[in-house]
Amino acid sequence: MTADPIKEALHRLPYGFYSITSRNGNEVNAMVGNWLTQVSFEPRLLLFALSKIAYTHEVVSAGGVFAVNIFNKEDDAVIRQLTKARAKKPDKMAGVAWTPGPATGCPVLEGAAAVIECRVVHLLDTGGDHDLLVGEVVNALILKEGNADTTLTLPDLKWNYAG
Ligand SMILES: Cc1cc2nc3c(=O)[nH]c(=O)nc-3n(C[C@H](O)[C@H](O)[C@H](O)COP(=O)(O)O)c2cc1C
Repeated sequence: MTADPIKEALHRLPYGFYSITSRNGNEVNAMVGNWLTQVSFEPRLLLFALSKIAYTHEVVSAGGVFAVNIFNKEDDAVIRQLTKARAKKPDKMAGVAWTPGPATGCPVLEGAAAVIECRVVHLLDTGGDHDLLVGEVVNALILKEGNADTTLTLPDLKWNYAG
């Protein structure tokens, strides 16, 4: 029997694994995340649970835009470079090639299979250590062949961020 069934059960939720990019004027950032889901068809809304202490929190609060970069499984090397916090790796963005998304200017990372650009509509305090970032989808780019089965997930990497 497990010592912590709550942790074990939470680890059984499967997640995709993405890079969330953001922009405020000339400032851009990219972080990795998995707590992401669609929460409305009309309008199309995405929800991302965003750490209160992430640098991305500051950037989206001020800039009001973000983009979800979706990778195929074979392109995990690209996203692995982005796992460190900006505070720990100030030159994080120097190591990745990107172009500005046409609708938001948020980085479209080289190697991404699809990108969803969003305008922030809410950044809600949960009372916990992550806030709820809700974005309206304003544009999407399909850059490589793929589908939900080919998309990189957290279980593919045998990592987890839950518990
Ligand atoms: C596997 C993995 C999954 C993560 N998932 C999330 C997530 O869903 N939400 C979040 O806010 N942070 C998540 N993080 C942590 C952020 O990537 C981390 O806070 C990072 O420092 C944020 O980068 P920034 O400070 O440059 O914005 C995850 C980290 C890893 C390694």
